[in-house]
Amino acid sequence: MRLTGWPRGDRPDRDTALTVLRRAVELGVNHLDTSYYYARDGVSANELIRAALYPYPKDLVMVTKVGALIEGDDINLPAAEHRGLTPDGLRRGVEANLRSLGVDRMDVVNLRMGDRGHDGAEFESALTTLMSLRAEGLIRHLGISNVSRPQLDRARRVADIVCVQNLYNIADRDDEPLIEACAEAGIAYVPFFPIGGGFRPLAAERLAEVADRLGATAQQVALAWLLARSPNIAIIPGTGSPAHLEENIAAGRLRLSEKDLAELG
Ligand SMILES: NC(=O)c1ccc[n+]([C@@H]2O[C@H](COP(=O)([O-])OP(=O)(O)OC[C@H]3O[C@@H](n4cnc5c(N)ncnc54)[C@H](OP(=O)(O)O)[C@@H]3O)[C@@H](O)[C@H]2O)c1
Repeated sequence: MRLTGWPRGDRPDRDTALTVLRRAVELGVNHLDTSYYYARDGVSANELIRAALYPYPKDLVMVTKVGALIEGDDINLPAAEHRGLTPDGLRRGVEANLRSLGVDRMDVVNLRMGDRGHDGAEFESALTTLMSLRAEGLIRHLGISNVSRPQLDRARRVADIVCVQNLYNIADRDDEPLIEACAEAGIAYVPFFPIGGGFRPLAAERLAEVADRLGATAQQVALAWLLARSPNIAIIPGTGSPAHLEENIAAGRLRLSEKDLAELG
């Protein structure tokens, strides 16, 4: 998302974006989070990924999302379909991802719900549609995004769910029961805005103190905190900066002590 400046914001130049993608894979990243609608002013995340990494390494897992979209500048769909939860909208979303990434099957497709208050029938019907696209061979695994704990339970009755992608970070912890439920069920939990999206205030003072002691940055401590939180958490920090990429990878090697964790709350 960050590589395109979507939905609104600045972005790295093309060469830097391609460098970030290639370097990420060199450094061992094997999970890329994307979507066909991360596109702005003619720059699309999927096109960048394809340009940087095709033919893709065998162990690279590409995770996309379809469903309820937030309006961006370059979504070439009629307004009524921005929600994208109809069978046709979902199929078109999956096919757009396959086309732009140049693959026959998506490793993981997350069904993105726009908010947590959707009626159950719409949610189940969208999952059923994705299950049939899976049966056609277009999708390997299904996940869900922007969902509540009851929605997870409901989803598991209709589909095999491998991951949940929701807002969670050191300052936004509402999802803790959901993370636990996922851990118990062997489902990966993938927090978006792991370092606050670059605009949400994180627990700055507490992070700074621990970061100083460890000789790390506050963002690295925020990522290490997530990794220490639960073994089923996989993180997808967004960056358009090669230097931040190196720092974020290095955060995987930070070990927080009991004292650090206690201070971080
Ligand atoms: N399912 C959903 O509804 C949903 C919603 C939002 C996001 N997502 C996904 O989640 C991913 C992560 O979220 P996000 O990128 O919005 O938020 P994020 O990872 O929490 O934060 C990204 C911001 O932090 C900055 N940053 C990254 N590493 C840094 C570092 N080491 N030091 C200082 N600043 C750093 C980035 O700027 P620089 O480019 O300058 O590093 C960028 O502004 C997205 O890329 C997207 O794939 C999903």
